[in-house]
Amino acid sequence: MSAKIYYDADADLSLLKGKKIVFLGFGNQGSAQAQNLRDSGIPNDVILIANQQDSYAEAAKAKGFVVEHDFEKAAEVADVLFLLIPDQVQPRVFNEKFAPKLKPNAVIVIASGYNVFYKLLNFAPTQDLVMVAPRMIGSSVRSLYEKGKGFPCFVSVEQDGTGNGLPIALALSRAIGATKAGAIASSAREETAMDLFAEQALWPNIIMLFREAFSVLKEAGCSDEALCYEMWMSKEPAEIFERAAEDGFIAQLKHHSTVSQYGQLSGALALDGVAARAHFKDILYNQVLNGAFCKKFSLIEADLEKDGQENPLNELYRRTEETELAQAEKRVKARLGGLV
Ligand code: NAI
Repeated sequence: MSAKIYYDADADLSLLKGKKIVFLGFGNQGSAQAQNLRDSGIPNDVILIANQQDSYAEAAKAKGFVVEHDFEKAAEVADVLFLLIPDQVQPRVFNEKFAPKLKPNAVIVIASGYNVFYKLLNFAPTQDLVMVAPRMIGSSVRSLYEKGKGFPCFVSVEQDGTGNGLPIALALSRAIGATKAGAIASSAREETAMDLFAEQALWPNIIMLFREAFSVLKEAGCSDEALCYEMWMSKEPAEIFERAAEDGFIAQLKHHSTVSQYGQLSGALALDGVAARAHFKDILYNQVLNGAFCKKFSLIEADLEKDGQENPLNELYRRTEETELAQAEKRVKARLGGLV
């Protein structure tokens, strides 16, 4: 299945002429996207940063943007609204402050599929809901744009209330610099499925594999210092993934010794992956796509603001820090000081 890719030539910036563009949030993505959009020729006086009174608001002012602290006022003037505050606070802020005041033909732009896929945002059927989701952290969205380069990005139209959703989504993508390298046609479902699958299936397995590998090698007499270096402190895994992105997932193996190539390829082919595939499918269908995780997460969301052990995230960190790998890393870091 190959996806459509949109480039600068597919996007018409003039569609944004005369539109008031409001960025809700000036954090990682908000600051990068607003600056890119302005540098693409969108006049500063049609850009408004809607932000609570905090250091992000001050940063926006320092960059010369007009900042509105009253969200209802910002909602009333918005032709385009970029939703760039953390996903977990979006439903409350959007549904309470923006939805009742937004124009019936406003364009709402999301950078992550989560709240739309799980139907947590109350937008009107006449409005456009588009996704322009950079696959990069905000600082890279900005620095690549400044270098005249593009960045990977997903684009989709989740609701085409005005009938003009795609051209507007592409114009906005171009304005933030996302069509330069090609914006990939996607959907909130696809983005959410891949994102949460990586977070809840792939990376937990990688963490578990490192944890167990560490314990097995330690039991066999390997020192904490050697293990930490061998497994991640040397940055070898980071280098492997960098090569995988550049040369190819398999082709990067050619940079390793013959013994290593033989071991890796024969070892991977000897694993049938049946149990892993069943586990992955279970997470994808019974945790991610059916909304079970979202429902469970919404029950503990408020507790994530708490301090100490009442915060479930702190409790997870506490338990994880008890593992052999984490304890050993702490000792090694303390011993080696500035060396690592
Ligand atoms: P962030 O954490 O940098 O957001 C900070 C901004 O949110 C600030 O302007 C702050 O004033 C505002 N904010 C925080 N709490 C608030 C509240 N309770 N009420 C009102 N405003 C509040 O957010 P980030 O990381 O830029 O994420 C924004 C969106 O971009 C999310 O949908 C995220 O999934 C998506 N995204 C983020 C990426 C990243 O680089 N972090 C990468 C790709 C997408």
